Amino acid sequence: MNNVRQILVTAALPYANGPIHIGHLVEYIQTDIWVRFQKMCGHRCIYICADDTHGTAIMISARQQGVTEEEFISHIHKEHQSDFSDFDIEFDNYGSTHSEENFALCKEFWTAIEKAGLVKEQDIEQLYDPEAKTFLADRFVTGTCPKCNSESQYGDNCDKCGGTYSARDLVNPRSTLSGTKPEIRTARHLFIELEQLHTFLDEWTQSGDHLQPEVANYLRGHFLGEPFRDWDISRPAPYFGFEIPDNPGHYWYVWFDAPIGYMASTLQWCNLHGEQFDDWWRNKACEIHHFIGKDITYFHTLFWPGMLKTADFCLPTKVHIHGFLTVDGEKMSKSRGTFVRAATYLKHLEPGYLRYYYATKLSPKVDDIDLNLDEFVSKINADLVGKVVNLASRSAKFVEQQGLSETYPEDGGLFARAAKEGDLIAIAYERCDYSQAIRRIMALADQANPYVEQNRPWELRKDPSKLGQLQDVCTVALNLFRQITIYLTPVLPRLAVQCEQLLGEPITDWKQSQTPLTGSPVNPFKHMIHRIDTPQVQAMIDESRDDTLETTPDNTFSDSADALAAEPLADEITIDDFAKVDLRVARVIEAESIPEARKLLKLTLSFGGAEQRTVFAGIKAAYQPEALVGRLVICVANLAPRKMKFGTSEGMVIASGPGNDEVFLLSPDEGALPGQRVH
Ligand code: 2FM
Ligand code: ZN
Repeated sequence: MNNVRQILVTAALPYANGPIHIGHLVEYIQTDIWVRFQKMCGHRCIYICADDTHGTAIMISARQQGVTEEEFISHIHKEHQSDFSDFDIEFDNYGSTHSEENFALCKEFWTAIEKAGLVKEQDIEQLYDPEAKTFLADRFVTGTCPKCNSESQYGDNCDKCGGTYSARDLVNPRSTLSGTKPEIRTARHLFIELEQLHTFLDEWTQSGDHLQPEVANYLRGHFLGEPFRDWDISRPAPYFGFEIPDNPGHYWYVWFDAPIGYMASTLQWCNLHGEQFDDWWRNKACEIHHFIGKDITYFHTLFWPGMLKTADFCLPTKVHIHGFLTVDGEKMSKSRGTFVRAATYLKHLEPGYLRYYYATKLSPKVDDIDLNLDEFVSKINADLVGKVVNLASRSAKFVEQQGLSETYPEDGGLFARAAKEGDLIAIAYERCDYSQAIRRIMALADQANPYVEQNRPWELRKDPSKLGQLQDVCTVALNLFRQITIYLTPVLPRLAVQCEQLLGEPITDWKQSQTPLTGSPVNPFKHMIHRIDTPQVQAMIDESRDDTLETTPDNTFSDSADALAAEPLADEITIDDFAKVDLRVARVIEAESIPEARKLLKLTLSFGGAEQRTVFAGIKAAYQPEALVGRLVICVANLAPRKMKFGTSEGMVIASGPGNDEVFLLSPDEGALPGQRVH
């Protein structure tokens, strides 16, 4: 074994404004696998994470729920932690950016940055929502694009013509918080002049050591060729965050304190374990690895190294950047049911399936990864059930009495060859090339299975004179199973525990793959990994579709700190596309509340004549059921029926508004006839 390395690993801090979903899990699983691998190799490695709790989006979410921000983030903190632990993602510390430790470290950074002469003040004019009493970040303003006149564009750029502009230039701007017309107000902001660190950042990003080549190229092509813009680092009150000590009424922007949260969470861990903080963040011998998604490259490869350098902390050894998750080749989508929450997934499927599937897809590249649901089912069944667990399930029961042979039998070199392969598998894990690691491991399973088939333990057991041979064959099969399980342990920690329960020896060390087990007892075989059936996956997708109706406001927030409610325009469609949607006038003839549902009302709609349908609508907070009876609505009449928790919905009524208690049903004027088509 090479020298013991000291390694600090982080995954991006998830925003505390919504649940963990399968898109997030790509990163936390990727990182967890890497950390488990390092720990198995005997390195001193810690996995640090925390909730990212500050910013306007969280302030608004809390307001909308009528709770304090602290209450709001503490609830999410618990949810996040249990989602992660249910997926066997094992942090050494899971903190929060809203912590004393973080505030203290932010002050330390701030003092250093001010002392280095990097801070400047500037008055900027910004839109202000007099009703919500808050300044509006660009993402909270929509209006008509000043360049091409497209409506409903965000305050910073137009997704129709691609133009960029200031939110103040929008025609007919509206606050997405209250719908009111914003005022222009002047506010003082503090900026960090990142440009002063240009030479350092050129060198650091282009050294070839810290970033994937495509990331270094991207930075060179997009940012390094021109002066960096000053970074607007403060927000005026009201803002949920830390007030800047020497600037009362001004708060650090969420992206200032978020990465410092990596350190604050480390500090908490140090305090709990009697460790020295500087031994991790001011020690050249300690490696620091950040795992992040490609959308936050800029923050982690420019601002963050700049901040660390200025405050005299160690720089990241490596920033590992992954792509986004797509499902069946498309962006995750709430309406397609592919925006699957961690908790919803777990109601239908085992966590190991997703860990394994993601591992088969992950590489050191920044490419997006696709969760193909058919392939997901077939990989689990063919690889894990068919090739790996099969080795144990077909042999363990025949040696429950005798245990493993005293000496390792002749196996034609199978164990030794697979032991040698361990080095290449380890190199693949180290490089984050898990897809290669898995290919190599499955190739070993492909060599092991024919051994069992050719030696037919189920035949040997019928002949009392062949008991010794039976024991040897099963000893080989179980050792090959154990060796493969050791290699899979970073990905499938539960399988490692099941192997321990069967063979009596815990799997803790990569080196265990090099020596077979002999002479030890074999416990009764218990089921290890269930086959997946396609209907289980379908049920998860169906429930995820329902989740979108049964959620609190998080479904109106995007993952970006300051992105909220207003939805960007959907992709352009033709008139023929539109004609596919059959909208009909309908009259509500019954409306009832569903006590168990937070948002749903059950409506019975009449389309004239005898035709009636049941439709569930997420409008409970905005409408009393009895007030709806008799009213005309517009219904999507050719929508495929959807099975929901409380019954089947046979259509959808049309409404506008951001959701929650702000929903406005659309109705034609009286006189329109139920059943008439809407054009
Ligand atoms: O993009 C995000 O989800 C951010 N909450 C990540 C923060 S990572 C770190 F810098 F704190
Ligand atoms: Zn435009």
